Amino acid sequence: MRVLFIGDIVGKPGRNCLQQRLPELKRIHSPDYIIANGENAAGGAGLTGKVFNELRDMGIDVITGGNHIWDQNDIYSIIGHEPGIIRPANYPPGTTPGQGTAVIEASGGKPGLAVLNLIGRVFMRPVDCPFRAADRELKQLKEKVIIVDFHAEATSEKQALGWYLDGRVSAVLGTHSHVQTADQRLLPGKTAYISDVGMAGLYNSILGVDKEGPLKRFLTQMPHKLSISDGKKLLNAVLVELDEDNGKAIAIERIYDII
Ligand code: FE2
Repeated sequence: MRVLFIGDIVGKPGRNCLQQRLPELKRIHSPDYIIANGENAAGGAGLTGKVFNELRDMGIDVITGGNHIWDQNDIYSIIGHEPGIIRPANYPPGTTPGQGTAVIEASGGKPGLAVLNLIGRVFMRPVDCPFRAADRELKQLKEKVIIVDFHAEATSEKQALGWYLDGRVSAVLGTHSHVQTADQRLLPGKTAYISDVGMAGLYNSILGVDKEGPLKRFLTQMPHKLSISDGKKLLNAVLVELDEDNGKAIAIERIYDII
């Protein structure tokens, strides 16, 4: 079984590069499922119903979130209503709507899978413990194949969660930094791991947005509007190969395409 996981989709260039390249990636790798982090897919911040439908139409089965998932009001009409969109499980109790886990049942000979979304709390807003939230969520899951999107800033926290869940889940894949790391590996318990998958977005940019805005912010410490224009694009993803009978990972491969 193969799962293609795409890093944070940033705005229109991110969606456009998927429109362009996803059919070819599907042809080459024949993934059973495609997962993507979509918290910045609409205009670089948040997700709308229209963009959600666009991503689903491309064949993305599960869209994960993070700290920007609540940025657009439109999210409230989809999250918690549509299957295939989740947000981190470790928001405090009472955070509604939405769930931290998506389950796709096995059907027609195709194995099922579960996707668990967690968010870090180092250099980020304080949320509940992602480690304990993982324990709690995993107790509920019967699926053999479990893919974790850990949306976090610090590589130390990401590595810690990788080791904490080694042998208990199929993959711990980091998102949020928008920069792909080259540390993909199988942990001893056959959990695939990468600190950050990277992004799908504008190549000549700062984390997917036009470089002028962030540069002005750094130079003056004043607020400046962020924009996203068109140009060369970067598509970052990982392909995880798994044994669907026991959920163990067999291989993890990085995809880094400049389009
Ligand atoms: Fe994020």
